[in-house]
Amino acid sequence: MSDGRAQPGSTQATANRQTSASASPTSLQNWQAVWNRKGADPAVNLRGESLLSQLLVVDGFTSAFGHMGDTQIWLDYVAAQARRLDVCPGDTLFEVGCGGGAFLYPFWSAGHAVAGCDYAANLVTIAQQAMPDAKLHIAEAIELPAAARADVVVSNGVFLYFPSEAYAALVLRKMVAMAQKSLGIFDVCDLARRDEAIAARKAVLGEAEYAERYRGLDQLYLERAWFGHILADLPVRVEVDDQAMQGYGNAAYRFNVYIHRT
Ligand SMILES: C[S@@+](CC[C@H](N)C(=O)[O-])C[C@H]1O[C@@H](n2cnc3c(N)ncnc32)[C@H](O)[C@@H]1O
Repeated sequence: MSDGRAQPGSTQATANRQTSASASPTSLQNWQAVWNRKGADPAVNLRGESLLSQLLVVDGFTSAFGHMGDTQIWLDYVAAQARRLDVCPGDTLFEVGCGGGAFLYPFWSAGHAVAGCDYAANLVTIAQQAMPDAKLHIAEAIELPAAARADVVVSNGVFLYFPSEAYAALVLRKMVAMAQKSLGIFDVCDLARRDEAIAARKAVLGEAEYAERYRGLDQLYLERAWFGHILADLPVRVEVDDQAMQGYGNAAYRFNVYIHRT
């Protein structure tokens, strides 16, 4: 990760991706291409009437499985996570996998200094346009620099795209090292509900389209207890709760993790 802001058209994301070691590079690269394409949608016009609703589109929260058509529900969701993490005025935030910035945007609007990284260059460009003074970088999650610091570190709807548990564990421990106060990892796919989650998607798409759409695109499912196990040797308190977001179809199969320094 460089210290400079993201530059549109930068090849830094590609270079960063090539340096990472992961168990399933193909899925990692395929997901990166999927997310980068979302950020290249010519219909996105950040000068339009609802900037946040467009950030929700590019960040994938208007799919058939989790349509987030109401920005107030999103704002309520983000505010609920902020309360659980004890976010106070003046706290700095860093998001791993910030995408177009839909999760960070309410914090930025409230006056917080926000920063983040994402491997999809087009999405980082959009986030930078939406939040001009945010410190955003085109970088893969696993490349979080050891020296980076923020009061609160979050990652919303990102861990499911990681290529392996080993990769997720490395990112998680880097996030803990970065966070001065608390961390939130939200919208994690629940291993205990994996079969139901896949069946629900097949019911919407049909077997053939499901197979076509997700070829080479694995999602990572984790046990709720996994986060506590990975951080067992560190001075943190880990709480896990159901994902709860009105009208978000994926919520039934996802959970949120709240981590506080002790
Ligand atoms: C569902 S979007 C969520 C975006 C943002 N966190 C939000 O809630 O608005 C998932 C994001 O994770 C990013 N992502 C997935 N895996 C990543 C990785 N290994 N490194 C960096 N970014 C990643 C994608 O590019 C995409 O922007």
